[in-house]
Amino acid sequence: MIVADGQDIGMIETYVCSDYPEWDAIVQVGEGVVGVDLLIGEEELIGRGLGPEILRTFVRDVVRASACVASVDEENPRSWRAFEKAGFRHVRDIEEEGRPHRLMRIG
Ligand SMILES: CC(C)(COP(=O)(O)OP(=O)(O)OC[C@H]1O[C@@H](n2cnc3c(N)ncnc32)[C@H](O)[C@@H]1OP(=O)(O)O)[C@@H](O)C(=O)NCCC(=O)NCCS
Repeated sequence: MIVADGQDIGMIETYVCSDYPEWDAIVQVGEGVVGVDLLIGEEELIGRGLGPEILRTFVRDVVRASACVASVDEENPRSWRAFEKAGFRHVRDIEEEGRPHRLMRIG
């Protein structure tokens, strides 16, 4: 859960990619690389720069893996821009559930 000023405002999760073979076959990132997903659930808190700050903190203080990836819908520029602002780079394009996604990576 993402908590800000005592209020639950969203969720963020991480997982080891190789624990999910079908997903691992798509992202092809190798051993020890983790994935991250996040969502700010409060409309009024979107677009204020919180996402990149949450990502930076989570990757540094919680994930602590050699590398971290995220799959972001091509049609969600706010999201892939937020990942870029947190230091992720667009490494290649993948397909998730039949839709084009950007594979973003840090480390
Ligand atoms: C995606 C999410 C985590 C991003 O966090 P955020 O705090 O809203 O992100 P920011 O406020 O830093 O905005 C990110 C950037 O996107 C840009 N942006 C916003 N809308 C945009 C659009 N339609 N096209 C292009 N860029 C856009 C912003 O200008 C900002 O870039 P800048 O600071 O260089 O100007 C958050 O918006 C969210 O949870 N959204 C709902 C669910 C979701 O999409 N989850 C992600 C699934 S992978």
